[in-house]
Amino acid sequence: MTTNEKFLASFSFDKRLALYDITGSIAHVKMLAKCGIIPNADATKIVKGLQKIEKLLKTGRSLPTQEDIHYAVEKKLIDLIGEKTAGRLRTARSRNDQIALDLRLYLKDQINKTISLISIFQENVIEQAKDNEGKLMPGYTHLQPAEPVLFSHYILSYAWMLQRDKERLQDCFKRADVMPLGSAALAGTSFPIDRAYTAKLLGFSKVSQNSMDSVSDRDFIIEFLSAASVTMMHLSRLAEEIILWMNPSFNFIEIADEYTSGSSIMPQKKNPDFAELVRGKTGRVYGSLITLLTLMKGLPLTYNRDLQEDKPPLFDAVDTLQASLEVMAGMAATMKVRVISNEEMKTGFMLATELANYLVKKGMPFKEAHSVVKNIVNYCRENEAPLENMKIEALKKFSGLFSADAGKILSVSAGSLANLKVSEGGSSIKSVRKQITELVKII
Ligand code: ARG
Repeated sequence: MTTNEKFLASFSFDKRLALYDITGSIAHVKMLAKCGIIPNADATKIVKGLQKIEKLLKTGRSLPTQEDIHYAVEKKLIDLIGEKTAGRLRTARSRNDQIALDLRLYLKDQINKTISLISIFQENVIEQAKDNEGKLMPGYTHLQPAEPVLFSHYILSYAWMLQRDKERLQDCFKRADVMPLGSAALAGTSFPIDRAYTAKLLGFSKVSQNSMDSVSDRDFIIEFLSAASVTMMHLSRLAEEIILWMNPSFNFIEIADEYTSGSSIMPQKKNPDFAELVRGKTGRVYGSLITLLTLMKGLPLTYNRDLQEDKPPLFDAVDTLQASLEVMAGMAATMKVRVISNEEMKTGFMLATELANYLVKKGMPFKEAHSVVKNIVNYCRENEAPLENMKIEALKKFSGLFSADAGKILSVSAGSLANLKVSEGGSSIKSVRKQITELVKII
């Protein structure tokens, strides 16, 4: 290839669409024969030739290098059945509607695959939530200790996030599931084609209604990349949690060796490289989204060669997202959650809110209770003592409403705290079980 030919070519990356391109061509040629546009005998030869190419590809053989995947399949077909017959495949079709079709077929498959990977991730998260029922950990705001929460409640939040991601993908699937073939170059075709028939053969639920829109639209890709970016953002947050949780200063979890790597110099190191890479790769997927948005901005109708540049970022985002989902699902499944001791839970005055609630339940307005407990916390800070160690007599000095039952609030036993939050969707075993039942139904 000359430098100019290389510049123009997309085969090095769009060869990934080979099987979709062939599937599309088989449907197209069957439709042409059914509508009497090309002779049946030629259609049969073309279909057989295409099926042969399909087989060759599946056994690891490659196509001849051409400008793009469409020309590569055509060239191979010409080699197999001759140009006279193979040449009929071009009837009532352009590479413009052909690439739009290939991309939609590819994306529909990838959306389904991604959705399955999300389900596996969710199942693993649910297993962890079940296996660790009742274990407490600090819940944070501003990354400062806030209130004790159940580990199961914490981790299940990621199953919910990914559920919304899945719904976004399912929604995006609907827009990808529209058949553009038959739009030809831009204006449709004067051949009496049957687009509904082609759509049926290819498993599309709709046929596109505007040929100019069909050959130039890529917003189905942008939607996917947007959903992929949100999913990566969620995975990246979990990756960050895992990195913190396995840090000895937190020491909440251990992650399996297969998701860590050592240091070439420091023998003691067990680094969370996989989680870090998921966090880092998130940027690549955002980059793909921005690339596509920028690519499309200001493009006049209809097809412009700029559109060829849609594929590398799309493929990269699909690969990155799917690999990240697999890694995070594996990490979620294999991590070991420690039991955090009562003593460890005593840092950060995490029961202060409940102590204020106690006073409110005895009749004090919350604002006043807030300032009483703030005074208690300040006292504890000055004396470097945990709130949980305060004696009832000492508490009484701050408010006459304190009595012996305040001890129950300050006990940090998992049993007493695990069911303190009675509100729907709060951190309690009842809520966790309800969430699991609900998630199992919908994932
Ligand atoms: N390789 C091209 C792409 O990826 C296929 C369509 C080319 N069409 C054209 N009229 N040059 O977009």
